[in-house]
Amino acid sequence: MTRTTRDFDERIFALRLERSRADLFDMLERLYGHRADYQPFCRKLTAALKAAWRERSDELKWLDLQRDLEPDWFQRPDRAGYVFYVDRFAGNLKGVLDRLDYLEALGVTYVHFMPCLKPRPGDSDGGYSVMDYRAVDPALGTMADFETVATALRSRGISLCVDLVLNHTAKEHAWAKKARKGVAKYQDYYLMFDDDTLPKQYEQTLVEVFPDNAPGSFTAYPDIGKWVWTTFNEHQWDLNWANPQVFLEMVGVMLFLANKGVDVLRFDAVAFMWKRMGTRCQSEPEVHLLLHALRAATRIAAPAVIHLEEAIVGPDEMIPYLGRGEHYGKEGNLAYHNSLMVQFWSALASRDTRLMTHVLASHFPPVLANATYATYIRCHDDIGWAVTDEDARDVGLDGRLHRAFLSDFYEGVFPGSFAKGALFQFNPQTGDKRISGTFASLAGLEKAEAEGDAEEIERAIDRILLGHALIASYGGIPLIYMGDEIALPNDWGYTAEPTHAHDSRWLHRPAMDWQRVAGAMSGEGTAGRVLAGVRHILARRCATPELHGANLTVIAETGEDGLFAFVRQSPGTAVVCVFNFTESWASLPGDWAVAHGATAFRDTLSQSDVGLEDGRIVLPPYARLWLR
Ligand code: GLC
Repeated sequence: MTRTTRDFDERIFALRLERSRADLFDMLERLYGHRADYQPFCRKLTAALKAAWRERSDELKWLDLQRDLEPDWFQRPDRAGYVFYVDRFAGNLKGVLDRLDYLEALGVTYVHFMPCLKPRPGDSDGGYSVMDYRAVDPALGTMADFETVATALRSRGISLCVDLVLNHTAKEHAWAKKARKGVAKYQDYYLMFDDDTLPKQYEQTLVEVFPDNAPGSFTAYPDIGKWVWTTFNEHQWDLNWANPQVFLEMVGVMLFLANKGVDVLRFDAVAFMWKRMGTRCQSEPEVHLLLHALRAATRIAAPAVIHLEEAIVGPDEMIPYLGRGEHYGKEGNLAYHNSLMVQFWSALASRDTRLMTHVLASHFPPVLANATYATYIRCHDDIGWAVTDEDARDVGLDGRLHRAFLSDFYEGVFPGSFAKGALFQFNPQTGDKRISGTFASLAGLEKAEAEGDAEEIERAIDRILLGHALIASYGGIPLIYMGDEIALPNDWGYTAEPTHAHDSRWLHRPAMDWQRVAGAMSGEGTAGRVLAGVRHILARRCATPELHGANLTVIAETGEDGLFAFVRQSPGTAVVCVFNFTESWASLPGDWAVAHGATAFRDTLSQSDVGLEDGRIVLPPYARLWLR
């Protein structure tokens, strides 16, 4: 770098720092300002940001500029995501290079590598128990391989998302090892107690995450005479975010990954990052201060990068992760729309969309600032039936009974159920039962194929395409879970792997079946139909500008119990999206669609005109329409 370019580069950094200074330091002052080490901490943080900026490659700085000019890059309808475990998809990182053509053919422009940083040996909670944030899982390759893949993805316009576990590290992480040896500095990185007095007090209001196989939220280590906060599994030690050193370390990690070519950082389990006695220790106000500050740090030193926040909480608690009040437009760029996912399954089982319409209309704003949802039907985790008693009551349901019905239905034990799934973490105290299963199996394909029921197979295909059409149009980046596009069934053999046997989530994390893909690509069988359908949906999404994430999503009452609808409104035009959640024929008055902004009876999804009978739009079983 010549002197002038270097000066110019430093001036750009100064400009970025000034633009986000208040966002960063106002938050930090409130978190750590009372501490004697606050000033030195601020100086160290500024130096760390500057060092990361200096290390950032010209290519990535160019991307920073590009995204400064196109801040809506992640909200555009051409963004569509695909989520996979690298080993289950392609063997290892190098193998991903051979699969890029497939991703492109699918219409994917965003990939999420499930945890790929160095995990602890043995059971690592699917990689969420990380022992080194600066190294890649050796089973997948090296950091150099990672950078090669990131560059290859970028050259094809595919953005890369990776997990950054903020709430805890593996107990084998270097910090934890030092803490275990008694180094006070590192003991303060975690939440350690000399006896169980405080843990017992905290536990009175904590909610169990893994009640089955990791009960309680604390673990006693007699060898060091400490109790350690372990919200998830015993081997996952919660970090102490009240210690500014933890913030500093994690900013370092975050920018290290950003400089390796990551576009989206998925912050895992963020709700749990701040603890307060007498609460559930989830979504405390300080969590939002922390996330606002982390966002500002990225904006300063790696502005092309955005944040996806994983907060699987109730609807009202979730929206703040996308920036509410003082954090408006300044917190997460993306957050999982857990409610949309839950309501999809609820409406599908009950053939009744009233709860769905009520929940989505009453808890979610029609538009978000500088943010959008990650929409999905399935992911690597279980489905928890996040339906509140109040919402259920509002539509005449009993919350507890409805949740129990959904578990039974998707486990496949409710009479007449089409689904085949498995229970995950039964909590006898609350009666909560969560569910595992692939999209295809929960949607009825596994059962229908086993029974050779041709009509039911058709319905299952329709349900799978209904779900994909929903997440592609609602607003946000649709995330397809690997294998759903070829309707992969449950992997009942997961129990053969000893480190997985206790965790039924492996049921819906099958390995990719490339033979099935080959057949599906040439249009063969059920998989071929689903694949063609998913590709078509993504292509039509691209061609429908109204589906941009910054446009309004207004939930519409149809007056029909089996239909769900919303309007995507752009300044000049609208698309009215209607979904039939039943296996029966249904209809809607043509006037209804016109009143909601449709100007022609043209379905832009199927690219065909919609039939009207006696002035009513006719909807076949499981129909999905995007009316222009
Ligand atoms: C997140 C992950 C989940 C994991 C947990 C603990 O919820 O999605 O798979 O078990 O965090 O890291």
